[in-house]
Amino acid sequence: MFQYNGYWATALFETHLILTVITSAFWEALLGTAHGHPLKKPEGAHYQNQKGGVRMINLSINGKSYSYNGDEDMPLLWFIRENAKLTGTKYGCGIAQCGACTVHLNGEAVRSCVVPMVDVADANVETIENLIKGETLHFVQRAWIEQDVPQCGYCQSGQIMAVVKFLEQFPNPTDKDIDNHHTNICRCGSYIEMRKAIHLAATFQKEGGQ
Ligand code: FES
Ligand code: FES
Repeated sequence: MFQYNGYWATALFETHLILTVITSAFWEALLGTAHGHPLKKPEGAHYQNQKGGVRMINLSINGKSYSYNGDEDMPLLWFIRENAKLTGTKYGCGIAQCGACTVHLNGEAVRSCVVPMVDVADANVETIENLIKGETLHFVQRAWIEQDVPQCGYCQSGQIMAVVKFLEQFPNPTDKDIDNHHTNICRCGSYIEMRKAIHLAATFQKEGGQ
């Protein structure tokens, strides 16, 4: 996906996004599911505690404890933005296609728009706000700045969160690894600069950078 430039790259990815959204919407309408997470609570399911009250969901976000006893099907993304007020994580498609909502859930990169609250009980969540340690940026953030990757910037927090985990899995990534495994969409078409930044971040990682 990185071999295209300028207008054609943007046009191609917009077409790709529209087609994937339409296809996903079709299957969701047909099956009532989004990437394995039921959109509706299964028949007969209940999430009540022993006293018959609404189940309390406790979770940690960036090391801070939160409790939630609302709709268990509400996406984690809503909680992060509206309850925890951490707005660095973005809403793009809402159906796990674009990656703008990527966060780390128990150490894995996930698309938080399709993770229901019921699945995050006792979980540890990390968002883009937690990558910086004190005054020190994460090495992926440094690579992004050095390569001047962002254009409008909307997708970039999700891109960075996904790349942090991608580089744990692929510490010496080839261009093919990046094409095959870094699937977040950028509407501005910043793919070429992103690819350079991923290689630079891999170098920083080998040097032991935060
Ligand atoms: S908002 Fe697009 S994948 Fe979650
Ligand atoms: S969507 Fe604008 S920089 Fe990615």
